[in-house]
Amino acid sequence: MRHQTDNSPQASDTLNQFQLRHGNGDQSDDKIIVQNYFNSIGFERWRRIYGQGDVNRVQKDIREGHQQTIDTVISWLNADGNLASLSICDAGCGVGTLSIPLAQAGASVFASDISEKMVGEATVRAAVTMGTAANPTFVVQDLETLEGSYHTVICLDVLIHYPQKKAADMIHHLGSLANTRLILSFAPKTYFYTILKKIGEFFPGPSKATRAYLHQESDIIHILEQQGWMVQRSAMTKTNFYFSRILEVTRPTHSR
Ligand SMILES: C[S@@+](CC[C@H](N)C(=O)[O-])C[C@H]1O[C@@H](n2cnc3c(N)ncnc32)[C@H](O)[C@@H]1O
Repeated sequence: MRHQTDNSPQASDTLNQFQLRHGNGDQSDDKIIVQNYFNSIGFERWRRIYGQGDVNRVQKDIREGHQQTIDTVISWLNADGNLASLSICDAGCGVGTLSIPLAQAGASVFASDISEKMVGEATVRAAVTMGTAANPTFVVQDLETLEGSYHTVICLDVLIHYPQKKAADMIHHLGSLANTRLILSFAPKTYFYTILKKIGEFFPGPSKATRAYLHQESDIIHILEQQGWMVQRSAMTKTNFYFSRILEVTRPTHSR
């Protein structure tokens, strides 16, 4: 699997700078590529997108779309009325955009990310927002090596970096950590051609070096159902450059 040269700031914002593809890729080095990216140029880019400073219009669109996804998840958790009593694992936490408000709401949050830089930024943001509190706990760790047991496991906008087989392994592992509920988001394959078209329109030429894996919603649901999960809530965030399907699944024997 090749890592594309990042020579277009705009192209690299769309779909996280990885060459757009939707088949099974070489799964062995996906993780290393992703980790290196989010510890280098990707860190700088996504720190800005997930921040409040000036950004270009593509980045602004992605920022707004991503915030809608975060707001949807928080609104689901708030609606259940028990957020302050929950233990939550935020797997692939990025700069803490979800972890921090969840901890502020009283949940006990364990947050991890494969990128040391992202975790460093999340730690700083938590300290600035919340003081030096130990909650959330931020750790540098590949989500597939996480252990423990949490009421709710959340993994937002991470599966886009992995092909189908690897995504299935990840979902399986995350599910094994969740007692009651799993919340996932992914870029649905439905929008594949729309995204391709937009990339073609905005970033002509060889610099359209983006790579991302889109997932068929039916495939993701099939994986989840095979593991005994049932879809409780779903939502779609869709802006011009950001597409994310959010699924909340629970085990039939548990209530939220
Ligand atoms: C697009 S960002 C989303 C961050 C966060 N979930 C959010 O929605 O704000 C994807 C994040 O997933 C992390 N990531 C990718 N692969 C991972 C893995 N195998 N284990 C843990 N984190 C991973 C990246 O380092 C990056 O911070």
